[in-house]
Amino acid sequence: MILVTGGAGFIGANFVLDWLACSSEPVVNLDKLTYAGNLHNLRSLEGDARHVFVQGDIGDTALVARLLAEHQPRAVINFAAESHVDRSIHGPEDFIQTNVVGTFRLLEAVRKHWSGLDASDKGVFRFLHVSTDEVYGSLAATDPAFTEQHPFEPNSPYSASKAASDHLVRAWHHTYGLPVLTTNCSNNYGPYHFPEKLIPLMIVNALAGKPLPVYGDGMQVRDWLYVKDHCSAIRRVLEAGRLGETYNVGGWNEKPNIEIVNTVCALLDELRPRADGQRYASQITYVTDRPGHDRRYAIDARKLEAELGWKPAETFDTGIRKTVEWYLAHADWVANVQTGAYREWVQTQYASAAQGTAA
Ligand code: NAD
Ligand code: TYD
Repeated sequence: MILVTGGAGFIGANFVLDWLACSSEPVVNLDKLTYAGNLHNLRSLEGDARHVFVQGDIGDTALVARLLAEHQPRAVINFAAESHVDRSIHGPEDFIQTNVVGTFRLLEAVRKHWSGLDASDKGVFRFLHVSTDEVYGSLAATDPAFTEQHPFEPNSPYSASKAASDHLVRAWHHTYGLPVLTTNCSNNYGPYHFPEKLIPLMIVNALAGKPLPVYGDGMQVRDWLYVKDHCSAIRRVLEAGRLGETYNVGGWNEKPNIEIVNTVCALLDELRPRADGQRYASQITYVTDRPGHDRRYAIDARKLEAELGWKPAETFDTGIRKTVEWYLAHADWVANVQTGAYREWVQTQYASAAQGTAA
């Protein structure tokens, strides 16, 4: 079996669902269930004996040691993290605690377990660390996309904490020989995406008749990948990646934020037109920019394609349509994640940024 951490979050849950849809190999899912972790994401696995959910912290060494000893996974895939840049600006401490200290403790627990395995189990064991392109910093408009050789230049508390965790993973390989793999992926979107991030926030705000808050001039560029393509890349790297290597994951889909917001609005105009006949884009509101906002991310994913033959299955057009359709069909999921804590966050983040202008 495999041990997945953070498997109740956006990407982790998609990974677990996809894994069990295409494999009979069981999954132990260790997740702290922070505000971002949601067992509703895994509802379709209720009663499925191949999925063992354990609520807990990757920094709980005793718990991780017990899970490793009890389940003897052949691989650990680490999704667990604090993942939202804006939250990291308001309160960086949890990011250091989980992304840095938590990853360190997880690595140590895994190293102790791995050291005690017999030679054949040791040989097949893998620790795959899921990371982000944000560790590389920000690109100017004409710079080439990030390769795996790009220096780490993180700019936000979030990206700095992820960069630190990537360094720890690298060091545990070089120093202790731990069989690690690291993936650095671009921005994901798709089902179960928590509506604090750009795309799901725009969908739920649009449907609720609320402003669509675009930071700064809306010309910051992100490189978007449908979440299921990220999951297939992780499966491929786990299967055939070279030990100690990092693999960039991306779909060559660079787009400015304002274009993303307009695309979401146009799809909603088509699929769920406003009752008053107005267009959703009329809800776009430019608000104060994010401090230290990275201008552009772009991933060069040629290594993954050339070495492991991975390619995304979705284009942005097909992926974004599926995503909007998913949100329209899952109003119950949206309502369920919009708890008091979610509303508090929206109030904290957007009350201060709201001195903007309607588009
Ligand atoms: P998410 O915030 O939706 O989910 C994170 C999950 O980790 C949640 O279920 C949460 O409960 C759990 N968690 C948090 N702290 C924990 C702890 N101490 N112990 C155990 N579980 C804990 O994040 P996501 O968007 O699914 O991202 C998953 C991973 O992928 C992260 O490592 C992130 O850095 C990376 N990543 C994300 C993106 C993206 O666009 N979302 C892109 C590239 C890489
Ligand atoms: P986000 O989804 O938070 O991902 P990241 O910061 O990790 O790239 O944001 C994506 C882009 O959208 C980023 O440039 C910030 C911008 N953004 C807005 O303009 N308005 C918003 O309300 C949010 C959440 C993000």
